[in-house]
Amino acid sequence: MGALYPNEAYRMKIEVVILAAGKGSRMYSEKPKVLHEIAGKALLGYVIDVAEAINSKAIHVLVGYQAEQIQHYFHNDNYNWILQEQQLGTAHAVSQAIPSLKDDSIILVLYGDVPLIKHQTLNALAAKTEANTMALLTVELDEPYGLGRIIRDENGNVESIVEEKDATEEQRKITEINSGIMAIPAQRLKQWLPKINNNNAQNEYYLIDIVALAVADGCKVETLVIADNTEVLGINNRLQLSQLERYYQTQTAEALMLAGTTIADPKRIDIRGNITLGNDVKIDINTVFEGRVVIGNNVSIGPNNYIKDSTIGDDVDIQAFCHIDSTVIRNACNIGPYARLRPGTELNDNAKVGNFVETKKAKIGVGSKVSHLTYIGDTDIGENVNIGAGTITCNYDGVNKFKTKIEDGAFVGSNTALVAPVTIGENATIAAGSTITGDVPSKHLAVARSKQRNVPGWKRPKK
Ligand code: UD1
Ligand code: CA
Repeated sequence: MGALYPNEAYRMKIEVVILAAGKGSRMYSEKPKVLHEIAGKALLGYVIDVAEAINSKAIHVLVGYQAEQIQHYFHNDNYNWILQEQQLGTAHAVSQAIPSLKDDSIILVLYGDVPLIKHQTLNALAAKTEANTMALLTVELDEPYGLGRIIRDENGNVESIVEEKDATEEQRKITEINSGIMAIPAQRLKQWLPKINNNNAQNEYYLIDIVALAVADGCKVETLVIADNTEVLGINNRLQLSQLERYYQTQTAEALMLAGTTIADPKRIDIRGNITLGNDVKIDINTVFEGRVVIGNNVSIGPNNYIKDSTIGDDVDIQAFCHIDSTVIRNACNIGPYARLRPGTELNDNAKVGNFVETKKAKIGVGSKVSHLTYIGDTDIGENVNIGAGTITCNYDGVNKFKTKIEDGAFVGSNTALVAPVTIGENATIAAGSTITGDVPSKHLAVARSKQRNVPGWKRPKK
């Protein structure tokens, strides 16, 4: 076993400590930085997910600023939420977790504001760690400004890390920087942390100081130099947030295109959540997908759509400017332009919902058409029904909601008000302009409008 899965032994021993106590003052936000989002998911959510992905034994999250808000957001008691009341530095933060850490664990330190780190990288880093070896994740940057520099001796062995503010002119020229992410044997971590002081430019307890302590103790400091620096990019302000968002969105769009989706412009699509796409899906510019969206084969999505938490079948045509939320659309439906499908809408095969139509809790049967300027709410429409332009289901009396039922083959003339609760029978016909307040039996015609009166020789008033 052990030989087959060399990483497994390490993985079983990993405990993750996530630092997320800081305010993130450069965000200028009431919200803690780690709850700001990329692609609709909190930064800290990415870090917790990667900690889950490596099957770590325990996940300890250091929270401080707006701690309750963060815990409330995740509402998950499987994580060990630890309060760091004052943010005295990264070493101080890790030391708050010490009582929770098992001696034989490998402690992986992650940051709540460094969201795109991959689990493969973390496994590789942890695998370099042993009882007397710690490991640092480093990266070469052309512009290392503001970051901790990795100091190596003439043989290339790591000696220490210095922060920008504490570095000499010479040290600032070093381009290998500390990502902050490190793996440390717990027993040694417990020995070194109490020795760290705050005698530095920021008067903080720096976690980086354990590197020099490790070297002094004869502990080996391994490094993993990461090639893709986006994995370790941290977010400090909203400019960086948007840059990482754009990077993430471009990656997602490229992956979808390589998996067979036609995207008119990968720079003008946003996917905030999970999307599953069939074959031959075409997506025009400026569509936003949110939450969980599932789309079948041969679907065309026109420009400027918003689609959230919805399932769409095969051969569906969604034209421009639709707003679709918590809706099920079955095969060969035609939607829009300018349709608004609100939660609880269900379109069955070959249904059509046209322009300026709003639906809510509405089931629309096979082959039925709601083509123009209509509101359908709390309604069950059967098969092959035709709803004329300007039809309104009056489902609300100001206090209660009532249901409308329109059975198979019914024809509702234009500008009809259907005052619920009401049932329109199978193959019934409603004359245009009717206000329907009572049930209409099957195959009947209902006319509910004032009679037309023509006045002969009518003279218009004069000025
Ligand atoms: C840190 C590293 C630096 C590295 C950089 C990479 C130290 C001293 N410096 O610098 O070498 O190049 O990350 O991005 O480790 N935090 C707490 N409690 C605290 C202090 C910090 O939870 O008491 C959290 C912050 O919320 C933040 C993270 O730890 O998420 C990093 O802290 P920060 O002070 O921003 O360190 P950097 O200056 O980024
Ligand atoms: Ca930082």
